[in-house]
Order: sequence, then structure tokens, then C-alpha cells
Amino acid sequence: MSNEKTPREFIENCEELIELAPVAAAPIRHHVFVCTGKSCSAVDSAAVKAAFEEELKSRRMQFGTEKKGRNPQGSVVLTECGSVGFCAIGAAVLVYPDGIWYAQVRAEDVPEIVEEHLVRGRPVDRLALLKVPAVE
Ligand code: FES
Repeated sequence: MSNEKTPREFIENCEELIELAPVAAAPIRHHVFVCTGKSCSAVDSAAVKAAFEEELKSRRMQFGTEKKGRNPQGSVVLTECGSVGFCAIGAAVLVYPDGIWYAQVRAEDVPEIVEEHLVRGRPVDRLALLKVPAVE
């Protein structure tokens, strides 16, 4: 018996896609990435991610299933990412679509990033090091 999975057929029907991936129909406004590469992990990026989870869940902002304490109508997707090159200045946190890359983020900075940036639309300058794209 083979362990290979049969590739799923390409799905054309949009409603079927949304049923399989409800995030596609959610009112997403931001995607927050927390780096969990080796160097960021060494300065406890796991605690930064946990702080985002706690803050976003308490505000009902984090997209996800109710059974995980998240909101199917949440506006923020929170995920981990691999190294982005801020290894010496982590923990790195990236916020899109704004293209703001934060450096040296600690768990105690997270409520401010959520309130100022994600809610009020004002990036936290003292932690923001880079804006992508570099040239508009
Ligand atoms: S390990 Fe996080 S930026 Fe390199």
C-alpha cells in the first residue's frame, strides 16, 4: 500500500472553496506574522505570539474557530513565520497589508501594537524599523 495521497482535484467553485476555507470570506484587515526562527525564539518570540493571541482573543479580533476561543468574523490572522533577517534584533513581527516590520518586540509591547496599529491604524514608531515596499 502506498503512502502517497491522491492530489485533490482543482476546485473551480468559489462557494465550495469558501466552505473549505472560511477565512476566504472573513472580514480580514490584517495579517500579523511572528517570527519563530531560531534567533527570535531565543528572545522568546513564543511569548510574543502568546501575547498577541491573548490580546486579540480578548478583543474578539483574532480570526478562527469559536472552539479555539477565536472569532469566525475576526479581522486579524495571526501566524508564525520563519526568519526574515532580523535575527540580531528580534523578535520580528510583521504586519500586513501595511508592510510594517517591527524589531525587538517583547510580549509587553503587544497590547500597544494591537491598540495603536491594528485598532487605530497608527504604527508604533519606536519599534517599527522597516516599511515594505521600500519605494512606493
Ligand atoms: S530568526 Fe527571526 S528574523 Fe531571523
